[in-house]
Amino acid sequence: MLEEDIESIPGIGPKIAKQLKEAGYPTVESIAVTPPKEIMEKTSIGFNTILKIQQAAREMFSASFKTAQEVYEQRQSMKKCTTGSKNLDHILGGGIETHALTELIGEYGTGKTQICLTLSVTAQLPTYKGGLDGNVVFIDTEGTFMAERIYQIASAHGLDPAEAAKNIFVARAYNSSHQCLLIDHLFEFCKERNAKLVIVDSMISHFRGEYFGRENLAERQQKLNRYLHKLIRLAEAYGIAVVITNQVQASPQTFYGDPNRPAGGNVMAHACTHRIILRKGGKGTRLATVIDSPSLPEEKARFKITENGIEDAEEK
Ligand code: GTP
Ligand code: MG
Repeated sequence: MLEEDIESIPGIGPKIAKQLKEAGYPTVESIAVTPPKEIMEKTSIGFNTILKIQQAAREMFSASFKTAQEVYEQRQSMKKCTTGSKNLDHILGGGIETHALTELIGEYGTGKTQICLTLSVTAQLPTYKGGLDGNVVFIDTEGTFMAERIYQIASAHGLDPAEAAKNIFVARAYNSSHQCLLIDHLFEFCKERNAKLVIVDSMISHFRGEYFGRENLAERQQKLNRYLHKLIRLAEAYGIAVVITNQVQASPQTFYGDPNRPAGGNVMAHACTHRIILRKGGKGTRLATVIDSPSLPEEKARFKITENGIEDAEEK
């Protein structure tokens, strides 16, 4: 399906195809899942033409009703990417899921980036070893992507470190607009490079830093929402696993329970398929808890960060 040229969509000639490709919609899937208004803003194609093209694209992509049994069978064929820790994989139902958006939430030093680095290696493993048999796109917004860690983690997983490093495409995003621009190009880039895992570490830090104060909150949330949904469409259309990281912010209104809550409010909470909270545990271990997942029970797992990436920590 991915190989299907967009010119095979009824109603698309070479001129329209060129515009769509240049605007970052190079496949039938990317056209089928994008809101028409977004395509209108990025091309000079008329609204009615876009609607017709999209309807044809959706028919080719079979984005229509399915039986629950078909949906079930599709879910069974979803791949899971190992995190390197069996405990953590277990609470995730086998690992990080494709076709979905997984959010890692935690304070500084809880292991969000270390999990992302480990996944960048394990995603390259063949599926029988718990990988996705694909390449990786890593959007680094904080300048914390440490390439030397990739070499260490790849060795630990039996991969040639230099080869593994060649399969990870890293972009440093300098501000939120740059981050959004990079996300805009993912439909094209992921197809070109056979990416099966996309990481945005962190999704929120530029937004929090740039849109300061109450008066800018609505605009910030709207933009964040738009790009989270773009990532979901990418995950679903191409069968990619998307992982984003998020911070926690102190919430002064809390009288009981954990005073820290995930940043990004409802927009973030609603967009992410699986949310995982990370905390520091005893003896240098880390504790992960799944929250708000439509398919996973709320369970805890203990892991540790080592030279080899993420590994199991003994249960106490
Ligand atoms: P922020 O991005 O600051 O919010 O934190 P984070 O959640 O991304 O934390 P990160 O994943 O960077 O985890 C940092 C922790 O990993 C620190 O406690 C480091 O000591 C630990 N760490 C990083 N590299 C290594 C390593 O090679 N060996 C070991 N044992 N620990 C490491
Ligand atoms: Mg980090």
